[in-house]
Amino acid sequence: MADLTVELFGKTLKNPVMNASGTMGYGVEMEPLWDIKNMGAYVTKGLSLKPHHGNPPPRIWEERHGMINSIGLHNIGIDAFFNNFMPFFEKKELPVIINFFGFSEEEYIECARQIKPHRLIVCLEANLSCPNIKAGGISFGKEPENVYRLVKKIKSVTEIPVIAKLTPEVKNISDIAMAAYDAGADGLTLINTIPGIYVDIDNKNIPIKGGLSGPFLKPIALKAIKECSERVPIPIIGVGGIMDWKDAVAFFMAGARAVQVGTATFVDPFTIPKIIENIGEFINSKGYSSIKDIIGVVNT
Ligand SMILES: Cc1cc2nc3c(=O)[nH]c(=O)nc-3n(C[C@H](O)[C@H](O)[C@H](O)COP(=O)(O)O)c2cc1C
Repeated sequence: MADLTVELFGKTLKNPVMNASGTMGYGVEMEPLWDIKNMGAYVTKGLSLKPHHGNPPPRIWEERHGMINSIGLHNIGIDAFFNNFMPFFEKKELPVIINFFGFSEEEYIECARQIKPHRLIVCLEANLSCPNIKAGGISFGKEPENVYRLVKKIKSVTEIPVIAKLTPEVKNISDIAMAAYDAGADGLTLINTIPGIYVDIDNKNIPIKGGLSGPFLKPIALKAIKECSERVPIPIIGVGGIMDWKDAVAFFMAGARAVQVGTATFVDPFTIPKIIENIGEFINSKGYSSIKDIIGVVNT
């Protein structure tokens, strides 16, 4: 059997495949279909200090090569997550990555401060695509100086490893990655969605403005992973447009240590278990012994 285990921030994950934040509710929703204990780790929906109600519908829109979502960061808040859902992950002994955000620097920092270390928490994944309300709604993740300052402050209030999840809507993503690294980030998640709109030609309106995800993101994510892994010596979790095991293998070869799968789960809810099974078969069929043998091996 191929060895699919990977090390992330001092923890050993049984395999390097996870859901992408916001695409698998609070985990329990998948229970009737397959056991999420089979994943390397579960990634929470983006959590904030207090519950947040998000946007009115429509919240999801199917596009030709992907999907637009406008959930508006709807979530139950950190306290409700830990009280209501953490026991579910404890029962499963499933490692958890806590995705979190704030609408101000203070909210990010207070949120990170209030999340206490737990044997199952692998890391905090700071979603840096969130709009900074005090700065006119511009995302925190767009300027290296802002990323540096925010990551540094987050790191100063928690003992849990912190990874920065970056927006691709920037001039040079490896400059942003470098800023996060310099500020002490333990890892990176690349990439978040790209903003877009849908135009309804019959009603001459825009029914949804939001983040585009899905297949069209894959080449953009691969380029980001390749460039950032060449400059920044911390683990990268790759995400964006992974629809099957071949896409996942490409992410590992480009330099990702683990991958997350989002939109594909909306198309086929069994995508993640299929990817886990098939990357194992790929490793065996090519004569490798471990997933580690294919990480970052792509020639330039
Ligand atoms: C419905 C939906 C909700 C999402 N919610 C979050 C979120 O709360 N926090 C976050 O960092 N990313 C969120 N994302 C972005 C995904 O985690 C992922 O980065 C993006 O969808 C690209 O991966 P994919 O093409 O596999 O979907 C969301 C995406 C979707 C489709």
